[in-house]
Amino acid sequence: MNKLFCKNLTIKNDELFFAGVNVNNLAKEYGTPLYLMDENLIREKVNIYKKAINDGFDGNGKMLYASKAFSCKYIYEIMKDENVGIDVVSKGEIWTAKCAGFDMANVYYHSNNKTDDDIKFAIEEKVGYFVIDNEEELVSLNTIAEEKNIIQKILIRITPGIDCHTLEAISTGKVDSKFGFGIETGLAFDIVEKALKCKNIELKGFHCHVGSQVFDSTAFIKSADVMIKFISDIKDKYNAEILDLGGGYGVKYVGTEPEIDIYKNIIEVSEHIKKIVRTYGIKMPYIIFEPGRSIVADSGLSLYTVGSVKCIPEFVNYISIDGGMGDNIRPALYNAKYTIIPTERLNRNFDKLYNVVGRYCESGDVLGNNISLPSDMKRGDYLACLTTGAYQYAMASNYNRVERPLVIGIKGDKIFTILERESLSDITKLDR
Ligand code: LLP
Repeated sequence: MNKLFCKNLTIKNDELFFAGVNVNNLAKEYGTPLYLMDENLIREKVNIYKKAINDGFDGNGKMLYASKAFSCKYIYEIMKDENVGIDVVSKGEIWTAKCAGFDMANVYYHSNNKTDDDIKFAIEEKVGYFVIDNEEELVSLNTIAEEKNIIQKILIRITPGIDCHTLEAISTGKVDSKFGFGIETGLAFDIVEKALKCKNIELKGFHCHVGSQVFDSTAFIKSADVMIKFISDIKDKYNAEILDLGGGYGVKYVGTEPEIDIYKNIIEVSEHIKKIVRTYGIKMPYIIFEPGRSIVADSGLSLYTVGSVKCIPEFVNYISIDGGMGDNIRPALYNAKYTIIPTERLNRNFDKLYNVVGRYCESGDVLGNNISLPSDMKRGDYLACLTTGAYQYAMASNYNRVERPLVIGIKGDKIFTILERESLSDITKLDR
């Protein structure tokens, strides 16, 4: 078996332990598919960002958790407790954060299409910042803010024209992106002028995000260069207070991927930013990072039960599990790769290749192809899929009317429910 690279995984008596808990026992007790979240590791990741930003920018910056990676009341409670901000993208995320008692002043509202209804809702909920993506949004926000007699703080989303060489579907910073205003097209300069003329808008600064699952700081450094030059170019008209550099640091899903030292990378970015800010002679903006994946991904693990082992001689071996694209669409959508291992008798040789497939009625419903596993895998065995805390449950669906899985939290010796398993009555609750 490959060496386990997630620090919260251990093997004792040939059985798999996650966050110090025997996962076989959890699978037996709670059933599968089952998602586990390691709270101590989530908090550890948050604190790495907090310390790095604090050290790197001399206290002049903060972290927002990009809650699209995993959004539920529990995660907002943690972020509230850790005193970090959050990035939200919908009424649903705002509502969930509110239900968790999150301070709305520390909420940054993204999305490239906020309807008037969304805007009214967010204003009524007193969301701290809107991150403006397009001119229509600015106009509508100004009108609604005037009706509500408030001044709304905003950041403007800028497209820095950087290609961060991640997957096309999760790359967002290129000039032809659907997000934000390009600098090279001149649109960024126009929107600043328009925002400054809006009576009920207070422009606080700029935001950019170049993509997700990026493995070093090159893209951050390049986009900081572009953004700081932009801030400098417009400084006679407007002094930006905030520069939000977005999220995107990647995680290791499989052994061949690198592991990122977040602290080191942020310090490196901070040193670069301080240098160019001095070169341009502008005031150092307040710096924000917006990580999602790197906060929650390896704090998650999913467990499945093997239903069948089908060997098609001279072709392929299939293992069918009781979950799949309904709880993890990433392999089907992005060809994403995962590490999949059995949870017990881990001393066996992993000497047979299988395609681990889901229970959904599509050939594309795959969790992983060519996965090395023991040759005696059988119905009733459990499989663990590692690094499933970000963008799995968050993207889960009821396709085939399958219930979404149970999510359990582990914190030291405490085990608790984060999200209940969906029931059959939940499945029909919207039917008329
Ligand atoms: N800020 C903005 C504006 C974003 O659009 C995103 C992610 C983030 C921050 C957080 O990025 P992260 O640190 O998580 O990489 N569903 C895809 C990922 C989509 C990312 C969307 N935006 C996946 O499963 O890989």
